Amino acid sequence: MKKNIALLEGDGIGPEVIKEALKVLDVISKNSDVKFCYNKGLVGASAIDQTGNPFPEDTKKLCKSSDSVLFGAIGDPKYDNNPKAKIRPEDGLLEMRKFLGLYANIRPVKTYKSLIKSSPLKKNIVQDVDFVVYRELTGGIYFGERGVRDNGNIVYDTCTYSRKEIERISHLAFKEARKRKVKLTLVDKANVLSTSRLWREVVQDISKNDFPEVLVDYLFIDNAAMKIITNPSDFGVILTENMFGDILTDEASAITGSLGMLPSASVGNEISLFEPIHGSYPQAVGKNIANPMAMILSAGMMLNFAFNMNKEESIIKQAVEDALENGVVTKDINYDKFYKTNEVGDWISSRVGELIN
Ligand code: IPM
Ligand code: MG
Repeated sequence: MKKNIALLEGDGIGPEVIKEALKVLDVISKNSDVKFCYNKGLVGASAIDQTGNPFPEDTKKLCKSSDSVLFGAIGDPKYDNNPKAKIRPEDGLLEMRKFLGLYANIRPVKTYKSLIKSSPLKKNIVQDVDFVVYRELTGGIYFGERGVRDNGNIVYDTCTYSRKEIERISHLAFKEARKRKVKLTLVDKANVLSTSRLWREVVQDISKNDFPEVLVDYLFIDNAAMKIITNPSDFGVILTENMFGDILTDEASAITGSLGMLPSASVGNEISLFEPIHGSYPQAVGKNIANPMAMILSAGMMLNFAFNMNKEESIIKQAVEDALENGVVTKDINYDKFYKTNEVGDWISSRVGELIN
């Protein structure tokens, strides 16, 4: 069986971490009848540099004709501090999400035993954390109407949600909560925003009509931000809108002890995309110090979500845990004794080879 994977390395450390994920996929491929075929496409700042467009036509075609998309990172500091830049690397990512209909971003948050000491939180608070965030990805303020009045002295972004947009991701989140046998928490700002009130209404309807067995609770975003650091193990599935999800998942990744650990899947109409939640980490480029684990785990999520290879995903997760247990980690995890990016990738891929046989 052949699977075509669009490889979008993107910016910063994207190419370096994707390289390590491919080592792991190659081992999987050698030990199964699935053959992965990779085709590279440009996206982000590197695409702007080469084509003037952060999500060029060729990349669009490539994604549409692939079975899955593996994505590295996006962003370049030269745009971050220039509010007047006409084209931005992030526009490529947003357009890609919209173009591929990737309406649900799934971000599992789990503490690894050997990382507890690196967490900024106390051990008893983080030790049992294991939840997943379902972040809406193609609506809300990121995609609402925006504009300028009074010669640029007044600027606005609007947050819009339709019932249908809320329903489709809510169904996915409810299914996950039912499968995991955990509570679903809707995070919103229903005491202020009318879009949040629609979220509550829709979630209450779905809960009553389709998932009466799933326990549901509701938290305002400000309160949720607090609970993620005071009681993170209380969460099972968090369902939330686009911008709240963006903010909460960065916060959630920090409590696990390293930003470099969290993978994500963006799913929707047909094709899915898999990417680490960390950014492009420009300071690390070319130094062989970036943590490849989130990217490797994202490749694992791809195997499970896109190709139904859940056994192989479990093996990858196990190999990453073993690397952590054995101290085969990059500098972000252990500053005193660390391995290079490629060494961590080599270790994990050979461990995958051992576990698979
Ligand atoms: C993320 C990122 C993106 C987002 C940026 C790069 C546009 O922060 O995937 O979380 O805000 O969605
Ligand atoms: Mg983010």
